[in-house]
Amino acid sequence: MKVLVTGGSGRLGTAVVDGLLGSGHEVVSVDRRPPARHREQWFAADLTVADEANWALSRVRPDAVVQLAAIAVPFSRPEAEILRTNTALAFNVCRSALEAGAGTVVVASSPTVVGYGAPAGWVPSYLPIDEAHPVRPWHAYGLSKLVAEQVVRMFTAQAGDRMRLSAVRPCYVIGADEWAGAPTQQGHTVRERLDDPSLAAGSLFNYVDARDAADLIGLLLHGAHEIPNGETFFAGAADALAREPLAELLPRFHPGTAAAAPTLVDDAPAFSPARAERLLGWKPRRTWRTELR
Ligand SMILES: NC(=O)c1ccc[n+]([C@@H]2O[C@H](COP(=O)([O-])OP(=O)(O)OC[C@H]3O[C@@H](n4cnc5c(N)ncnc54)[C@H](O)[C@@H]3O)[C@@H](O)[C@H]2O)c1
Repeated sequence: MKVLVTGGSGRLGTAVVDGLLGSGHEVVSVDRRPPARHREQWFAADLTVADEANWALSRVRPDAVVQLAAIAVPFSRPEAEILRTNTALAFNVCRSALEAGAGTVVVASSPTVVGYGAPAGWVPSYLPIDEAHPVRPWHAYGLSKLVAEQVVRMFTAQAGDRMRLSAVRPCYVIGADEWAGAPTQQGHTVRERLDDPSLAAGSLFNYVDARDAADLIGLLLHGAHEIPNGETFFAGAADALAREPLAELLPRFHPGTAAAAPTLVDDAPAFSPARAERLLGWKPRRTWRTELR
């Protein structure tokens, strides 16, 4: 398969490019900035510009597209810019993919669509959270990812079986360098997030190994024709990034979870990976207990 990965120079994109190359696919990465490795596979484009997205997709004519390009950190840029950028990226890439005849598209969303951490309070309908849980984003990043999911649905309705689309909500992505001590997305190391629960509490102690998330995306590229079109999947580790059960930790940092949290005993995570396992046979294989060095 020829796969075009947008945002291939990023934290998750690096693992996705590695994983796809390792599986024998032809990979082209499109990103505004160059990657640390596989530079010969990359070219630059600003995909928020519709003409550049069209040019990139028609130049490559891929069989499949993995849309990861985004401003990936909430509040890292002005709110209006995050909303404008991320929604334009999702829309332009899906639209250009359809026009270029791509058969499969996977779009990165985010668990933040659920709305945890809202300043006005957040009460989950139940825990662990699965794909049926209501969504209520409270910042531009979460909203932009909800729009990206709706973009997936819109093109599913428009393209029908001409193009298979899905959305993935990766939990807090941890790459190989970060297991070895490099700072994670929010600036602290994995060990610091474990030692001080207040650091991982903001994301409900969720995480996923970048290679596991890349494996799920690989499965979606292969299996898209065997599952309903336009599906959404959480990609989270099978355990929580915590040394205490979330039944105790969550209500300490998110009082609104007190009623639902008792289900999260032992090392149970706040987000369920069950749907991806059921529909695609995906199992997150890495945990902080085996990967942290
Ligand atoms: N890292 C996480 O924990 C996490 C969690 C949930 C969802 N996600 C989503 O997964 C995706 C990948 O996240 P990441 O952590 O690898 O992010 P990242 O910031 O490391 O990589 C994103 C890449 O997109 C590129 N990009 C941004 N704007 C672009 C544009 N206009 N044109 C072309 N390229 C552009 C950037 O240069 C960057 O290399 C994002 O969509 C992010 O929102 C990430």
